[in-house]
Amino acid sequence: MAKEMIMATFDGQGSNNNSELFQAQSHLYKHALCYITSMCLKSAVELGIPDIINNHNGQSITLPELVSALHLPPAKNGFVHRLMRLLVHSGFFTSKKISQNQEEQEAYDLTPSSRLLLKDKVVVQSLSPFVLAMLDPAFMAPWHFLGSWLQKDESATTPFELAHEMSIFEYMSKNTEFSDLFNGAMASDSGMMKLVVKDIRPVFEGLCSLVDVGGGTGGVCRILIEAFPHLKCKVLELPHVIADLPNTENLIFVEGDMFQAIPQADALLLKWILHDWSDEECLTILKKCREAIPSYGGGKVVIIDIVINDQNDELETAEAKLYLDLLMMTLATGRERSEKDWEKLFLEAGFTRYKIIPIFGLKSLIEVFP
Ligand SMILES: C[S@@+](CC[C@H](N)C(=O)[O-])C[C@H]1O[C@@H](n2cnc3c(N)ncnc32)[C@H](O)[C@@H]1O
Repeated sequence: MAKEMIMATFDGQGSNNNSELFQAQSHLYKHALCYITSMCLKSAVELGIPDIINNHNGQSITLPELVSALHLPPAKNGFVHRLMRLLVHSGFFTSKKISQNQEEQEAYDLTPSSRLLLKDKVVVQSLSPFVLAMLDPAFMAPWHFLGSWLQKDESATTPFELAHEMSIFEYMSKNTEFSDLFNGAMASDSGMMKLVVKDIRPVFEGLCSLVDVGGGTGGVCRILIEAFPHLKCKVLELPHVIADLPNTENLIFVEGDMFQAIPQADALLLKWILHDWSDEECLTILKKCREAIPSYGGGKVVIIDIVINDQNDELETAEAKLYLDLLMMTLATGRERSEKDWEKLFLEAGFTRYKIIPIFGLKSLIEVFP
């Protein structure tokens, strides 16, 4: 078929304006549709694609080999390359052309991001549970209420409450399946601590006891106990999170409410706790923390959380932090904080100094002293 090229005769000014508008349209459409990348990532995890590629004898996997390993109904085989094309474009896999049986085939490999999704621990625990939990319908529904929540006066504290008629932690206490999914996501995130436990030895060295406040299923404590076998740990948690978890010699699960009382210890750990809560709620928690640690002899609170630092963060890190800030606004009453915000909280809660160690990628470790 003969191709016909139509040349429009715009004046210079009009042509510039048009290209800017078409670029703006692409920008708009990209952001209106970028949930598609998230949902394709979720599908890749559900289908086990990262593990299939990883288990392919250390070699790139061709499209026909991937399709065959997925065991899909034959009518669906033709769709796989389109899913993979977007996931390659978004940096979750790489692709190259290789020759197989005298035919040129698309072949895929993992990237550092998809390596983090592998079920069989390669370096750290899989982050697949995090992907699945964040994209669960229970977490997606509140986004449809963000606009109306902003317009409403006081009827619901969060968009999550508008969507589910209860707070996030109440919802989890009533939905075991979702609670398990969420706790698994948090545990997978905590696994990343293994990568830095050597670097943060001085923070925990010399401590005899530690309480992980809102410590989930105890993942961080287990990593710390492995590195510091003499350390006695307690996890303070809501009853539904720790109901079936057995105590060990060094790790005891304690039911309780951090707004009411926190067990005494040399040090307290709060990982991804304070970002769930408003400044007023954080002050209540931090004052309880202040009461639970010794004033002298090394008592401290160790916070692992985000520090917003737009000036210095790389684009991807800065963006992820902004997403998490909005996530905290939508799911809970919390927010991500700058160093200035953190300092204000610490001083108001009765602490005198703090030290920020930014070694967790997105998160920092903050030591806070009486
Ligand atoms: C974002 S998760 C973080 C879990 C864990 N620290 C981690 O990073 O893997 C927040 C945790 O706080 C717990 N939590 C919420 N309200 C609490 C309360 N009033 N007292 C104790 N724990 C609470 C939740 O059950 C949940 O496990």
